[in-house]
This record gives sequence, C-alpha cells and structure tokens, in this order.
Amino acid sequence: MIAHDTTTGADADPRVAQLVHALGADVVQSGAAVAPYCRDWHGDVQGGAVAVLRPRDTAGVQACVRAAVALDLAIVPQGGNTGLVLGAIPDAPGAQVVLSLDRMTRIRDLDPDNFSAVVEAGVVLQSLRDAAAAQGLAFPLSLGAQGSCRIGGNVSTNAGGVNVLRHGMTRELVLGLEVVLPDGQVFDGLSKLRKDNRGIDLKQLFIGAEGTLGIITAVSVKLLPAPDRVATALVALPRLEDAIGLYRRARRECCDLMSAFEFMPPLAFTLAREAMPDLALPMDPTHPAYALIEIAGSGLVDIDDLMTRFLEGAFQDGLALDGVIAQSQAQAASLWAVREGMNMGQAQRGRHFRSDVSVPLSRLARFVAEAEAAITAQLSGVVCVSYGHVGDGNVHLNVLPDQALGPKGVDAQILAAKKILNTVLDRYEGSISAEHGIGRLKREDFEARLPGTQRALLTAIKGALDPGRVMNPGCQLTLSGAER
Ligand code: FAD
Ligand code: LAC
Ligand code: ZN
Repeated sequence: MIAHDTTTGADADPRVAQLVHALGADVVQSGAAVAPYCRDWHGDVQGGAVAVLRPRDTAGVQACVRAAVALDLAIVPQGGNTGLVLGAIPDAPGAQVVLSLDRMTRIRDLDPDNFSAVVEAGVVLQSLRDAAAAQGLAFPLSLGAQGSCRIGGNVSTNAGGVNVLRHGMTRELVLGLEVVLPDGQVFDGLSKLRKDNRGIDLKQLFIGAEGTLGIITAVSVKLLPAPDRVATALVALPRLEDAIGLYRRARRECCDLMSAFEFMPPLAFTLAREAMPDLALPMDPTHPAYALIEIAGSGLVDIDDLMTRFLEGAFQDGLALDGVIAQSQAQAASLWAVREGMNMGQAQRGRHFRSDVSVPLSRLARFVAEAEAAITAQLSGVVCVSYGHVGDGNVHLNVLPDQALGPKGVDAQILAAKKILNTVLDRYEGSISAEHGIGRLKREDFEARLPGTQRALLTAIKGALDPGRVMNPGCQLTLSGAER
C-alpha cells in the first residue's frame, strides 16, 4: 500500500472548526471518518484530507465550495469511489477536502413519455437502473461496479462498461447537467431535450473531466424501452483471434440487437471462483479463450432463435468449440458472474498491474499476443490476464506479479510491466485509457503523450473555468504550486 501522510492534525486542525462553523457539524466529517473516503477500491493507496464534506443538496454543494475556497482548500469530488485511476483520492492531505455526493440520491423526475430521468449525482447506478426497470424502461450503462458507483462519477469519468457497442459511452446517454462551478455559481443545463443545437454544447466540457472543472450535482439521462427478451451465451473459442472473427459475424447476423460481446481467458474461471467459491462452472474451463455474448430486443424478433442460429453457424465454420445459452435469468447472471468476478479475484491476489487500453479492433488479437509475449519474456513468474470489451477494441491487459518477490519486487514488476505494455501500445497507436480516465495514476503517461496544441487547449479551458485551481488539482494534468 502506498500511504500518504494522513495526519493533518485531524480535529485539532483549526480549519475543521471553521468548516463546521460555516456548514454545520452534520456536513463535515473529520478524524478517523476521513480515511475510508481516501482509500482506493483495491486498497493499494491511502490518501488523506483535512475533512470530508457531505452536502445534502445543490445549495449545500455551493456552500461547501465557498467555505473551502475561503480557507484556500482544494476540492476533490467523489461519487462511489470505485474509480480505478485515483481521480477521487486526495493526494495533498493538508490542502484538500473530499466533497462526497453520497447523500444526494434523489430521483428528481422520471418521464416515461420523454424516455428520460433527472437524477442527483449521488444516485447509485444500480438504483437508476432499477427505477427505470420499474417503469418498463432501461438505463443501459452497465459495469461491474454498478452496485456502488454513482451517476455523477459515471459522467465525470465518461464510463464505458459492457454495453458500449450498442449504446455508446456515458456521454451518449447524457441529455443535460447541473454543475456547481469553482466560484460557487450553478451551471443550470438540466435539459430534457433530445435535439438542441444552440451553439457550443457546454455540458460536454464536464463529461470525462474527472472533477477538474466543477462538481456535477444532477444529471438528465436518456432511457430506453426495456427489452422483452435477452439471450446470453458463453462460447469457447479456439483462439483469441476467433473472438474478432465471431464478433464481425455477430455484427452482420445479429444487426443492432447485440448489446455485449466480451472476451476472457481460461484463467477467468479460476479468478472468479477465488472471489466466489460457490460459483458453478458453466463449461469446461480449459479452452484457449471465451466470449460472452448478449443479444437483446423486443417485439416481433425472436431473440432466442437468433442466438441459436448465429451460434450454429459459428460452430459449423469452426469459430466456436463449445457453447452454452442461458436458460433463465439466474443462469445468465451466473455467466456474467464469471466475467465480473475476475476483478475481485485479481484484487484478492494482491497488488498487480492493471491497464485499460484500446487499439483498432482489427489489430486487437495481434496486439494482445505481442504485448503478453514481451511481458512474459522480460518478467519472470508473472501471469498475464487479458480480457475486456471486444467490440470497443478495449482490453484490460493486467499482470499479476510474482508475489514471492516481496513488496519491492512486486512494485518493480508492476512498473516494468507498464513500460513494456506502453512501448507496444505506442507502436499500435493505441490509447492508454479507453474507459477509466486519467486520474492521478495515468497523469504522467498522459502528459508524456499529449501534443502541445492539446495541452494548450486543455490549460486554457482549465484557466477559464477554474482560475484559482480549486478543483481536483493533480488529477489529469500536473499543475505546479505557482499555478494554484
Ligand atoms: P469516483 O471513483 O468517486 O470518482 C471518479 C472520478 O470522477 C474522480 O476524478 C472524481 O473526482 C470524479 N467525480 C465523481 N463524482 C463527481 C461529481 N459528482 N462531480 C464531479 N466530479 C466527480 N469503468 C468503466 O468505464 N467500465 C467498466 O467496465 C468498469 N468496471 C469496473 C468494475 C469494477 C469492479 C470497478 C471497481 C470499477 C470499474 N470501473 C469501470 C471503474 C469505475 O467504476 C467507473 O470509473 C465509475 O464511473 C466511477 O464512478 P464513481 O461514482 O465510483 O466515481
Ligand atoms: C472491467 C473493468 C475493469 O471491464 O473496466 O471489468
Ligand atoms: Zn472495462
């Protein structure tokens, strides 16, 4: 664990009393209550902060911003704290507060006729999905952390997940935003309109900004009719390359009805079982590669028949070795549990290297083979775990170090794995962050690859919206003390 100094004097810090005076004791948490908000999901990093502010509404967020600015404290916004790049983990304990949206959980409006909802930023993604489902609707953003991540965090990271190939990233699902700006003003852009071409679309600035430009307090989102029928299949493949061939075929044969197409290595079963010992194995776990495919639709289309005919063709042409189509929702959930359980399984193995890269889909299999070969040739005792979102050309090529080397050896292997991967990735002109964002973890790698014109534009936008450098300093871009 990399620990920052969490001892800021805690309650003895006179600024805590000043925050309490300005905001009320109910809003300000300090002392031991701060630590859980400053630890990342994997438990790799423990940061610290002067206090955690937990407002209950937008006016409360405005008051928090004004109180923090008056004390020259920077603000690190936080939703569900499931981000994987340390964007919500404060790194200057004596100079920052966490502003948590975890009390802002109201669904302000759900409009079935407009297929939209307006929700506060702290609404947990699963709660929004459930609220939509109760009206026969769907909010299609879906990811492993959906029981904990919050919609404000999803928008701030422009999260991806497993349904991107059909519904796009979070950005595609946002109709409007309400944002408290670094000077305490509210940007009221909570539109419910689907078409609105009045000049530059300002809300886009805050989507994917990881809390560096303001605090999102509410989000207006698109909803869809819930599909009547979802068919889920797990398919064993002769090679990872065949996942690409199978995906190409599915795009043609299943048209726009395919909602997910994920790939996993055989180790997925072992990792998922380590996290969930009772998980039943749905098929022989020793094939070279697996694809998890979902087709969803409503009305006259027979989804089950479509999945069956699609897989029959794939078997006939040698693209698939084995397959199982879920016969119930519970079975579908157990197939997804293999995919989702991998993350916890890796976390339980200890500190490891995680990546979130993308390359053109046509080169995905070659990229994975080349990067894994380079890593295992140079680092003894490591295990590569490559999985992810085939349709998006997005792979999480993770590396489990040799834990026998001890903490220093493990850290050295993590650093070396990143360097080797990035060298191969740069040759493929890929992205170092396909869906998780930059945060603090990838800032150096991001900046090292940032062309001058882009840097100048990003700096100008930051300077215009947040001249006092109040919002999430150190996240995405380095800002020196002089600039703050
Ligand atoms: P946090 O972690 O709290 O914050 C993330 C960033 O957003 C930080 O920079 C923070 O400062 C900022 N922020 C948060 N709320 C606000 C706000 N209201 N206003 C302004 N800034 C804010 N991600 C994917 O894209 N696809 C996946 O498939 C996926 N799977 C995951 C599976 C697991 C098991 C885990 C642990 C994570 C996964 N993630 C995935 C990463 C993570 O869940 C997403 O990035 C998610 O969108 C983060 O939401 P959060 O509420 O937890 O945000
Ligand atoms: C996933 C996360 C790690 O796809 O993005 O499981
Ligand atoms: Zn992912």
